[in-house]
Amino acid sequence: MTANTTIRQASEIETTRPFFSVRDMHAYYGESYIVQGVSLDVRRGEILALLGRNGAGKTSTLRTIARTDNPQMRQGEIWLDGAPVHQMKSFEAARAGIQLVPEDRRIIQGLTVEENLTLAKVAPGNGWSLEQIYQSFPRLAERRTQEGVTLSGGEQQMLAIARALARDLKLLLLDEPYEGLAPVIVQEIERILHSIKPLGITTIIVEQNAVAALKLADRAVILDTGEVVFAGTAKEVLDNAELRHEYLAI
Ligand SMILES: Nc1ncnc2c1ncn2[C@@H]1O[C@H](COP(=O)(O)OP(=O)(O)O)[C@@H](O)[C@H]1O
Ligand SMILES: [Mg+2]
Repeated sequence: MTANTTIRQASEIETTRPFFSVRDMHAYYGESYIVQGVSLDVRRGEILALLGRNGAGKTSTLRTIARTDNPQMRQGEIWLDGAPVHQMKSFEAARAGIQLVPEDRRIIQGLTVEENLTLAKVAPGNGWSLEQIYQSFPRLAERRTQEGVTLSGGEQQMLAIARALARDLKLLLLDEPYEGLAPVIVQEIERILHSIKPLGITTIIVEQNAVAALKLADRAVILDTGEVVFAGTAKEVLDNAELRHEYLAI
């Protein structure tokens, strides 16, 4: 073997190694067994669409990855950029770069847009500056002095994503970000999610609007009753009518 092939193989391994990896993850609400052995892999800068029917376990999977206490993870491993997330508490996972934007977005009441962002920046690390955020989210710049909870649904979603970017962000977990939003706002959020890919930010998006999520995503995982029933490229799902019909009703 020549030196050249050795180098090429090493670089191939480097680019194909998953940046984020979940291995045989099991989680419970009390004694209710919900996340039943989920495994998934995402490469750096990729977008993964996590799909499945209502009650399939998508939110529970995101919450387990973010290391919330509920559901409780009892088995499995979670690795982000070489770090063992499964050994972390939720605040440590956040510090390691995992930011969950839940369905209700959790904008802090009584604070302006700018105060919500400034508060996020209190955490240590190299998140985006206010200037960078306002450049990418002109709507937030326009509304910087407005109370965050009085924004439209779409603007609140942007603020929630911007707040994640204000922290050290490696893995963005989005739970139903498009819910209730007009198509034009969805497009604006898609543009932002697309623009952070080259920065190496990896995204897992849970969406009822499966077609929109699949068009945006590189990879797709479909859950059913807490188990992975499909893992592959987003295109494979878009091209597979049977799969779409059975698990996504589209
Ligand atoms: N806090 C909870 N306590 C007990 N069971 C829950 C709780 N939250 C969700 N579940 C149950 O876990 C299953 C998966 O829910 P969830 O992860 O919210 O699904 P999805 O996000 O795919 O709609 C459902 O059967 C749901 O009823
Ligand atoms: Mg859910």
